[in-house]
Amino acid sequence: MLVHAITSNVTYEFASDVHAGLTRPGQKELPSKYLYDDVGSALFEVISRLPEYGLTRADERLLRRHASEIVDRLAAPVAVVELGSGSGKKTRWVLEALCRRQRTFYYPIEISRSALAMCERELRDIDAISIVGFEREYLDGLLEVAAHRKADQHLFVLFLGSTIGNFDRAAGVKFLVEVRRILEPGDSLLLGTDLEKPSTQLLAAYDDGLGVTAAFNLNLLARINRDLDADFDLEQFAHVARINHEARSIEMHLRSRRRQTVSIPAAELDVEFLEGETIWTESSHKYSTEEIFQMARNAGFSCQAQWIDDEWSFAENLLTAE
Ligand code: AVI
Repeated sequence: MLVHAITSNVTYEFASDVHAGLTRPGQKELPSKYLYDDVGSALFEVISRLPEYGLTRADERLLRRHASEIVDRLAAPVAVVELGSGSGKKTRWVLEALCRRQRTFYYPIEISRSALAMCERELRDIDAISIVGFEREYLDGLLEVAAHRKADQHLFVLFLGSTIGNFDRAAGVKFLVEVRRILEPGDSLLLGTDLEKPSTQLLAAYDDGLGVTAAFNLNLLARINRDLDADFDLEQFAHVARINHEARSIEMHLRSRRRQTVSIPAAELDVEFLEGETIWTESSHKYSTEEIFQMARNAGFSCQAQWIDDEWSFAENLLTAE
Protein backbone atom coordinates (compact mmCIF):
# COMPACT_ATOMS: atom_id res chain seq x y z
CA MET A 1 0.00 0.00 0.00
CA LEU A 2 1.21 3.48 -0.84
CA VAL A 3 -0.18 6.53 0.95
CA HIS A 4 1.04 9.89 -0.24
CA ALA A 5 -0.45 13.39 0.00
CA ILE A 6 0.44 16.22 -2.37
CA THR A 7 -0.31 19.58 -0.74
CA SER A 8 -0.88 23.23 -1.66
CA ASN A 9 -1.39 26.58 0.14
CA VAL A 10 -4.84 28.13 -0.22
CA THR A 11 -4.81 31.07 2.26
CA TYR A 12 -4.19 33.81 -0.29
CA GLU A 13 -7.03 32.55 -2.51
CA PHE A 14 -9.32 32.32 0.55
CA ALA A 15 -8.66 36.00 1.47
CA SER A 16 -9.28 37.11 -2.08
CA ASP A 17 -12.54 35.09 -2.42
CA VAL A 18 -13.79 36.43 0.93
CA HIS A 19 -13.05 39.98 -0.22
CA ALA A 20 -14.85 39.46 -3.54
CA GLY A 21 -17.87 37.74 -1.97
CA LEU A 22 -18.46 40.25 0.81
CA THR A 23 -18.04 43.33 -1.39
CA ARG A 24 -20.43 42.10 -4.13
CA PRO A 25 -23.20 44.60 -4.85
CA GLY A 26 -26.55 43.16 -3.68
CA GLN A 27 -26.45 39.68 -2.15
CA LYS A 28 -23.26 38.96 -0.16
CA GLU A 29 -21.92 35.50 -0.88
CA LEU A 30 -19.16 33.09 0.18
CA PRO A 31 -18.12 30.01 -1.86
CA SER A 32 -19.42 26.82 -0.25
CA LYS A 33 -16.11 25.01 -0.73
CA TYR A 34 -14.76 27.01 2.24
CA LEU A 35 -17.23 25.29 4.59
CA TYR A 36 -14.81 22.34 4.65
CA ASP A 37 -11.82 23.15 6.84
CA ASP A 38 -10.92 20.60 9.56
CA VAL A 39 -13.83 21.65 11.81
CA GLY A 40 -16.30 21.92 8.92
CA SER A 41 -15.36 18.49 7.54
CA ALA A 42 -15.83 16.95 11.01
CA LEU A 43 -19.23 18.68 11.34
CA PHE A 44 -20.27 17.42 7.92
CA GLU A 45 -19.44 13.87 9.06
CA VAL A 46 -21.88 14.39 11.95
CA ILE A 47 -24.55 15.84 9.61
CA SER A 48 -24.31 12.69 7.51
CA ARG A 49 -25.40 10.63 10.57
CA LEU A 50 -28.37 12.82 11.54
CA PRO A 51 -31.81 11.21 11.20
CA GLU A 52 -33.07 14.27 9.28
CA TYR A 53 -30.28 14.08 6.65
CA GLY A 54 -30.71 10.83 4.71
CA LEU A 55 -28.61 11.77 1.67
CA THR A 56 -25.29 10.16 2.69
CA ARG A 57 -26.92 6.96 3.96
CA ALA A 58 -28.86 6.62 0.67
CA ASP A 59 -25.62 7.07 -1.28
CA GLU A 60 -23.92 4.42 0.90
CA ARG A 61 -26.85 1.97 0.62
CA LEU A 62 -26.86 2.18 -3.17
CA LEU A 63 -23.10 1.69 -3.41
CA ARG A 64 -23.18 -1.24 -0.97
CA ARG A 65 -26.07 -2.97 -2.77
CA HIS A 66 -24.91 -2.39 -6.33
CA ALA A 67 -21.08 -2.31 -6.12
CA SER A 68 -20.55 -5.57 -8.06
CA GLU A 69 -23.07 -4.60 -10.72
CA ILE A 70 -21.41 -1.18 -11.15
CA VAL A 71 -17.91 -2.66 -11.38
CA ASP A 72 -19.07 -5.33 -13.87
CA ARG A 73 -20.14 -2.56 -16.25
CA LEU A 74 -16.67 -0.94 -16.35
CA ALA A 75 -14.01 -1.45 -19.00
CA ALA A 76 -10.84 -3.06 -17.58
CA PRO A 77 -8.31 -2.23 -16.27
CA VAL A 78 -9.36 0.95 -14.46
CA ALA A 79 -7.83 3.42 -12.04
CA VAL A 80 -10.29 5.11 -9.67
CA VAL A 81 -10.30 8.88 -9.16
CA GLU A 82 -12.64 10.31 -6.55
CA LEU A 83 -13.53 14.01 -6.66
CA GLY A 84 -14.11 14.99 -3.02
CA SER A 85 -13.61 11.70 -1.22
CA GLY A 86 -14.63 12.95 2.26
CA SER A 87 -14.01 10.20 4.82
CA GLY A 88 -13.96 7.57 2.05
CA LYS A 89 -16.39 5.29 3.92
CA LYS A 90 -18.95 4.99 1.13
CA THR A 91 -16.25 4.28 -1.48
CA ARG A 92 -15.15 1.07 0.29
CA TRP A 93 -17.78 -1.14 -1.42
CA VAL A 94 -16.80 -0.16 -4.96
CA LEU A 95 -13.08 -0.39 -4.19
CA GLU A 96 -13.45 -3.82 -2.59
CA ALA A 97 -15.42 -5.07 -5.60
CA LEU A 98 -12.73 -3.74 -7.96
CA CYS A 99 -9.83 -5.05 -5.88
CA ARG A 100 -11.31 -8.56 -6.09
CA ARG A 101 -10.82 -8.23 -9.85
CA GLN A 102 -7.50 -6.36 -10.16
CA ARG A 103 -4.83 -4.43 -8.24
CA THR A 104 -6.42 -0.97 -8.00
CA PHE A 105 -4.94 2.52 -7.87
CA TYR A 106 -7.22 4.89 -6.00
CA TYR A 107 -6.65 8.67 -6.25
CA PRO A 108 -8.82 10.67 -3.81
CA ILE A 109 -8.83 14.41 -4.59
CA GLU A 110 -9.73 16.72 -1.71
CA ILE A 111 -9.22 20.32 -0.67
CA SER A 112 -9.44 19.31 2.99
CA ARG A 113 -6.19 17.80 4.26
CA SER A 114 -7.90 16.25 7.29
CA ALA A 115 -10.58 14.58 5.11
CA LEU A 116 -7.82 13.20 2.89
CA ALA A 117 -5.98 11.78 5.91
CA MET A 118 -9.25 10.30 7.25
CA CYS A 119 -9.98 8.70 3.88
CA GLU A 120 -6.52 7.18 3.64
CA ARG A 121 -6.83 5.72 7.18
CA GLU A 122 -10.30 4.37 6.43
CA LEU A 123 -9.39 2.47 3.24
CA ARG A 124 -5.78 1.36 3.55
CA ASP A 125 -6.70 -2.09 4.90
CA ILE A 126 -8.27 -3.15 1.55
CA ASP A 127 -6.18 -5.86 -0.15
CA ALA A 128 -4.56 -4.96 -3.47
CA ILE A 129 -5.12 -1.20 -3.18
CA SER A 130 -2.64 1.66 -3.69
CA ILE A 131 -3.84 5.05 -2.44
CA VAL A 132 -2.32 8.30 -3.67
CA GLY A 133 -4.15 11.36 -2.30
CA PHE A 134 -4.07 14.80 -3.91
CA GLU A 135 -4.79 17.94 -1.89
CA ARG A 136 -6.12 19.81 -4.88
CA GLU A 137 -9.18 21.35 -6.52
CA TYR A 138 -11.14 18.63 -8.36
CA LEU A 139 -10.19 19.42 -11.94
CA ASP A 140 -6.53 20.15 -11.17
CA GLY A 141 -6.25 16.78 -9.43
CA LEU A 142 -8.08 14.95 -12.24
CA LEU A 143 -5.83 16.56 -14.87
CA GLU A 144 -2.77 15.42 -12.96
CA VAL A 145 -4.00 11.82 -12.68
CA ALA A 146 -5.06 11.74 -16.36
CA ALA A 147 -1.65 13.04 -17.46
CA HIS A 148 0.00 10.00 -15.88
CA ARG A 149 -2.46 7.29 -16.95
CA LYS A 150 -1.04 4.14 -18.52
CA ALA A 151 -1.75 3.48 -22.21
CA ASP A 152 -4.33 0.71 -21.77
CA GLN A 153 -5.88 2.09 -18.59
CA HIS A 154 -9.40 3.52 -18.27
CA LEU A 155 -10.34 6.04 -15.62
CA PHE A 156 -13.35 5.53 -13.37
CA VAL A 157 -14.25 8.86 -11.78
CA LEU A 158 -16.46 9.00 -8.69
CA PHE A 159 -18.39 12.18 -7.94
CA LEU A 160 -20.65 11.05 -5.12
CA GLY A 161 -22.82 12.52 -2.38
CA SER A 162 -24.60 14.94 -4.76
CA THR A 163 -21.72 17.39 -4.55
CA ILE A 164 -22.75 18.37 -8.09
CA GLY A 165 -25.87 19.84 -6.46
CA ASN A 166 -23.71 22.50 -4.84
CA PHE A 167 -23.14 24.01 -8.31
CA ASP A 168 -26.03 25.83 -9.97
CA ARG A 169 -27.53 23.80 -12.84
CA ALA A 170 -25.61 25.53 -15.64
CA ALA A 171 -22.33 25.37 -13.70
CA GLY A 172 -23.01 21.68 -12.97
CA VAL A 173 -23.20 20.86 -16.69
CA LYS A 174 -20.14 23.05 -17.35
CA PHE A 175 -18.27 21.10 -14.69
CA LEU A 176 -19.28 17.78 -16.32
CA VAL A 177 -18.10 19.14 -19.68
CA GLU A 178 -14.70 19.94 -18.11
CA VAL A 179 -14.50 16.44 -16.63
CA ARG A 180 -15.44 14.94 -20.02
CA ARG A 181 -12.70 16.99 -21.73
CA ILE A 182 -10.08 15.39 -19.48
CA LEU A 183 -11.42 11.85 -20.02
CA GLU A 184 -11.11 9.48 -23.01
CA PRO A 185 -14.03 7.73 -24.73
CA GLY A 186 -15.00 4.64 -22.73
CA ASP A 187 -13.95 6.16 -19.36
CA SER A 188 -16.72 6.23 -16.75
CA LEU A 189 -18.18 8.61 -14.21
CA LEU A 190 -20.35 7.53 -11.30
CA LEU A 191 -22.47 10.55 -10.37
CA GLY A 192 -24.52 10.69 -7.15
CA THR A 193 -27.52 13.04 -7.30
CA ASP A 194 -30.06 13.95 -4.64
CA LEU A 195 -33.58 13.95 -6.09
CA GLU A 196 -36.49 16.36 -5.57
CA LYS A 197 -38.43 15.85 -2.35
CA PRO A 198 -41.08 17.63 -0.23
CA SER A 199 -40.15 21.04 1.27
CA THR A 200 -40.72 19.92 4.87
CA GLN A 201 -38.28 17.05 4.47
CA LEU A 202 -35.71 19.36 2.86
CA LEU A 203 -36.03 22.06 5.52
CA ALA A 204 -35.54 19.52 8.31
CA ALA A 205 -32.48 18.07 6.53
CA TYR A 206 -30.81 21.50 6.24
CA ASP A 207 -31.91 22.92 9.62
CA ASP A 208 -31.74 19.95 11.98
CA GLY A 209 -33.05 19.96 15.53
CA LEU A 210 -29.62 19.52 17.14
CA GLY A 211 -28.21 22.56 15.37
CA VAL A 212 -25.32 20.68 13.71
CA THR A 213 -26.03 22.21 10.28
CA ALA A 214 -26.23 25.64 11.95
CA ALA A 215 -22.78 25.03 13.50
CA PHE A 216 -21.47 23.80 10.10
CA ASN A 217 -22.66 27.03 8.47
CA LEU A 218 -21.48 29.36 11.28
CA ASN A 219 -18.08 27.66 11.25
CA LEU A 220 -17.43 29.49 7.99
CA LEU A 221 -17.36 32.77 9.94
CA ALA A 222 -15.27 31.12 12.68
CA ARG A 223 -12.86 29.98 9.96
CA ILE A 224 -12.55 33.54 8.64
CA ASN A 225 -11.79 34.62 12.24
CA ARG A 226 -9.15 31.88 12.61
CA ASP A 227 -7.48 32.09 9.20
CA LEU A 228 -7.92 35.77 8.28
CA ASP A 229 -7.81 37.32 11.76
CA ALA A 230 -11.39 38.64 11.50
CA ASP A 231 -13.69 39.61 14.38
CA PHE A 232 -17.07 38.06 13.44
CA ASP A 233 -19.22 37.76 16.59
CA LEU A 234 -20.89 34.37 15.95
CA GLU A 235 -23.71 35.19 18.37
CA GLN A 236 -24.75 37.98 16.03
CA PHE A 237 -25.41 35.71 13.03
CA ALA A 238 -28.13 33.08 12.59
CA HIS A 239 -28.27 30.01 10.33
CA VAL A 240 -31.13 30.11 7.79
CA ALA A 241 -32.23 27.31 5.41
CA ARG A 242 -34.47 28.56 2.60
CA ILE A 243 -36.14 26.76 -0.32
CA ASN A 244 -35.66 28.32 -3.75
CA HIS A 245 -38.60 26.89 -5.75
CA GLU A 246 -37.52 28.42 -9.02
CA ALA A 247 -33.98 27.01 -8.85
CA ARG A 248 -35.26 23.72 -7.29
CA SER A 249 -32.67 24.09 -4.55
CA ILE A 250 -32.32 24.65 -0.84
CA GLU A 251 -30.04 27.52 0.19
CA MET A 252 -28.08 28.14 3.37
CA HIS A 253 -27.59 31.73 4.53
CA LEU A 254 -26.13 33.48 7.59
CA ARG A 255 -28.41 36.32 8.72
CA SER A 256 -27.02 39.31 10.59
CA ARG A 257 -29.03 39.77 13.81
CA ARG A 258 -28.21 43.49 13.93
CA ARG A 259 -26.50 46.31 12.10
CA GLN A 260 -22.77 45.70 12.54
CA THR A 261 -19.29 46.19 11.07
CA VAL A 262 -16.80 43.32 10.86
CA SER A 263 -13.10 43.74 10.30
CA ILE A 264 -11.15 41.16 8.23
CA PRO A 265 -7.52 42.37 8.28
CA ALA A 266 -6.02 39.60 6.10
CA ALA A 267 -8.55 40.43 3.35
CA GLU A 268 -7.92 44.20 3.86
CA LEU A 269 -11.62 44.69 4.50
CA ASP A 270 -14.11 46.28 6.90
CA VAL A 271 -17.57 45.07 5.95
CA GLU A 272 -20.93 46.48 7.06
CA PHE A 273 -24.07 44.40 7.61
CA LEU A 274 -27.61 45.70 7.91
CA GLU A 275 -29.97 44.02 10.38
CA GLY A 276 -31.51 41.01 8.56
CA GLU A 277 -28.99 41.07 5.71
CA THR A 278 -27.67 37.62 4.74
CA ILE A 279 -24.53 35.99 3.41
CA TRP A 280 -25.46 33.22 0.98
CA THR A 281 -23.14 30.30 1.77
CA GLU A 282 -24.49 27.27 -0.15
CA SER A 283 -27.10 26.01 -2.60
CA SER A 284 -28.03 22.37 -2.85
CA HIS A 285 -29.87 21.59 -6.10
CA LYS A 286 -32.27 18.67 -6.37
CA TYR A 287 -32.85 16.74 -9.61
CA SER A 288 -35.48 14.75 -11.45
CA THR A 289 -34.37 11.32 -12.70
CA GLU A 290 -35.02 12.30 -16.35
CA GLU A 291 -32.96 15.48 -16.30
CA ILE A 292 -29.84 13.51 -15.33
CA PHE A 293 -29.95 11.66 -18.70
CA GLN A 294 -30.19 15.03 -20.47
CA MET A 295 -27.39 16.59 -18.39
CA ALA A 296 -25.16 13.62 -19.23
CA ARG A 297 -25.87 13.99 -22.97
CA ASN A 298 -25.24 17.75 -22.85
CA ALA A 299 -21.82 17.09 -21.37
CA GLY A 300 -20.70 14.38 -23.83
CA PHE A 301 -21.60 11.34 -21.72
CA SER A 302 -24.34 8.76 -21.97
CA CYS A 303 -26.12 7.55 -18.85
CA GLN A 304 -25.83 3.72 -18.94
CA ALA A 305 -27.61 2.90 -15.71
CA GLN A 306 -29.38 4.54 -12.81
CA TRP A 307 -30.05 3.11 -9.34
CA ILE A 308 -32.59 4.81 -7.05
CA ASP A 309 -32.78 4.38 -3.27
CA ASP A 310 -36.13 3.24 -1.90
CA GLU A 311 -35.88 5.09 1.47
CA TRP A 312 -34.48 8.51 0.49
CA SER A 313 -34.99 9.90 -2.98
CA PHE A 314 -31.43 9.71 -4.35
CA ALA A 315 -29.92 8.31 -7.57
CA GLU A 316 -26.56 6.81 -8.47
CA ASN A 317 -25.93 7.31 -12.22
CA LEU A 318 -23.29 5.50 -14.29
CA LEU A 319 -22.13 7.71 -17.18
CA THR A 320 -19.82 6.67 -20.03
CA ALA A 321 -17.69 9.17 -21.95
CA GLU A 322 -18.80 9.10 -25.61
C1 AVI B 1 -21.79 18.08 0.31
N1 AVI B 1 -23.14 18.50 -0.05
C2 AVI B 1 -23.68 17.63 -1.08
C3 AVI B 1 -24.05 18.67 1.10
C4 AVI B 1 -25.46 19.04 0.59
O1 AVI B 1 -26.41 18.38 1.01
O2 AVI B 1 -25.58 19.93 -0.24
C5 AVI B 1 -23.54 19.73 2.05
C6 AVI B 1 -24.50 20.07 3.16
N2 AVI B 1 -24.88 21.26 3.47
C7 AVI B 1 -25.71 21.22 4.50
N3 AVI B 1 -25.88 19.96 4.83
C8 AVI B 1 -25.11 19.22 4.02
